[in-house]
Amino acid sequence: MALLFLDSADLDEIREAASWGVVDGVTTNPTLMMRAGTADLKANTLEIVRIVQGPVSAEVVSTDAEGMIEEAREILSWSEHVFVKIPCTVEGLKAMREISSWPNGRINATLIFSPAQAYLAAKAGATYASVFVGRMDDAGLEGMAVVRQTRDIFDNYGFSCSLLAASIRHTGHVVDALLAGADIITVPFKVLRTMIRSPFTDVGLERFLADWKKVAG
Ligand code: E4P
Repeated sequence: MALLFLDSADLDEIREAASWGVVDGVTTNPTLMMRAGTADLKANTLEIVRIVQGPVSAEVVSTDAEGMIEEAREILSWSEHVFVKIPCTVEGLKAMREISSWPNGRINATLIFSPAQAYLAAKAGATYASVFVGRMDDAGLEGMAVVRQTRDIFDNYGFSCSLLAASIRHTGHVVDALLAGADIITVPFKVLRTMIRSPFTDVGLERFLADWKKVAG
C-alpha cells in the first residue's frame, strides 16, 4: 500500500488533514517552517507527531557531515516517529552512512533529482529517498521519469529504501506517482483538497438527495 504524507509544517492544516483519516505521516522542511511562522523545530515536530502518530520528517540545516550528524542525533532523540531529513550531497552521504548505523537511524534523503542520487542515498542507508518531481517539471524536465527509473533500480537490486515522491504540484502527479510505484507520496494540503473534489460527486449527491426527498417527503 502506498503511504500518503502531508507536506506541511502548518499545525492547523495538519490537524484538518489528519481528521480526514487518510494521512499516514508528515514531511517538513525549513521553507515550510518559515511559512508556518515558527523556528521551534522541536516543539513543532513533536506537536505534529502528537497529531498524526506516524512518521514525521524534520530537516537538518548544517551542510557538513559532522554538523548534520550532530543535528540528527538531537532530532532523532525526540520521538521514535521522527525521521531526519538529510540533503543528498557528498557531505549528506557521509552523514547518512554514519546515521544509518545507529539503532534509531531513520533517514529521509532529500533534494533528490536523479536516479543516480537515489541509488547513492539507498546505498548510504537512507530509509526514504525523496524525489522532487515538481521542481524538475518547473525546470522543463520530466520529474516523474526519475520516480519511474528509481523504482526500477530499487526493484532490480532489492533495495529496501522507500521511494518517496515529493514536490507534488497537483492531483495528476499523485496518480502518476502511484502508477509509477512510489511507496510514499507527500502532498501539500491544497493538493489533498483537490484530490477529493469532483463536480460530478457534488451534482450526483444533490440529485440523490433531491430524489430521496421526493419519495420520502
Ligand atoms: C519534501 O519532503 C519537500 O518538503 C517538498 O516536497 C518540497 O517541495 P516543493 O518543491 O513544493 O518545495
